[in-house]
Amino acid sequence: MMNGHYNRHRRLRVSGNMRAMVRETHLHPEDFIYPIFVLEGQNKKYPVASMPGVYQVSLDYLNEEIQEAVDLGIKSVIVFGVPAEKDEVGSQAYCDTGIVQRALSQLKEAFPDTVLIADTCLCQYTDHGHCGIVKEGKVLNDPTLQLLAATAVSQAKAGADIIAPSNMMDGFVAAIRSALDEAGFEDVPVMSYAVKYSSAYYGPFRDAAHSSPQFGDRKTYQMDPANRLEALREAESDTAEGADFLIIKPALAYLDIIRDVKNQHNLPLVAYNVSGEYSMIKAAAENGWIDERAIVLEMLTGMKRAGADLIITYFAKDAARWLKDNE
Ligand code: PBG
Ligand code: ZN
Repeated sequence: MMNGHYNRHRRLRVSGNMRAMVRETHLHPEDFIYPIFVLEGQNKKYPVASMPGVYQVSLDYLNEEIQEAVDLGIKSVIVFGVPAEKDEVGSQAYCDTGIVQRALSQLKEAFPDTVLIADTCLCQYTDHGHCGIVKEGKVLNDPTLQLLAATAVSQAKAGADIIAPSNMMDGFVAAIRSALDEAGFEDVPVMSYAVKYSSAYYGPFRDAAHSSPQFGDRKTYQMDPANRLEALREAESDTAEGADFLIIKPALAYLDIIRDVKNQHNLPLVAYNVSGEYSMIKAAAENGWIDERAIVLEMLTGMKRAGADLIITYFAKDAARWLKDNE
């Protein structure tokens, strides 16, 4: 009996080395961007209850946190601030002595080669918890842009290598780009949260960053999870406004969007593997229901296969360690 009537796909799966030769997608520690939460004060390392393994740290603990990541081959961190004081207009976001600004200058000095990304938003800094200026219950677009631009410039001054605006106001890339250029930061790229859905997967982050909206929700500025074409429009306008990277967020329930944007744009694409995606895996792993390591590496591989060049992930250190063990 001849076997020529069907394809023997299994030929390319016969051994570990054969599989390695035909493997299409690879993870590297330099794919990962490590998120970090910084706190005012001293001698603080507070675990985030809904995110086992994630901490808010004061500046005296920050360098050791980052040293670990650097030692594992991670090239880049994204810094989120947890300020001690909040007000109506989020002043601590664009204050030159704000917590993120101090963290950035400390890190720039200690880790001159590590790429420092600043998350640029107001929600951790406003007492109402929205990502922009609020008037009569509405989040105002254009007045917010000036504050975001001021935040970006003060972060660049403090040592940020990349500005990552996450607020979803229209025109934020253009506003930030021109403010950076005017201040002499032409070479600081903008990594735009171009496609950011209004998602329940941000819940644990809001615990970590104390950034829950105090009234309403973010549905008038973040995107409807049901929409796909809208993601292409968002990516289009941020590209036109001069973004250097595009972020898609969340990642796991939006792999189709990652692929769609990848197919239409040639900017480096970043998937944000958000807090809820992290917590779900941690909870199941702690119950012994899943193999955490295998699940995480499979998930991150899926994000790259979908089209992500880089992944912001709370698993950055673990994944880098596991990849090392696999070598
Ligand atoms: C703030 C911001 C959020 C995240 C990153 N920046 C939360 C939000 O928009 O409510 C989410 C990150 C995560 O869930 O891991 N603009
Ligand atoms: Zn925000």
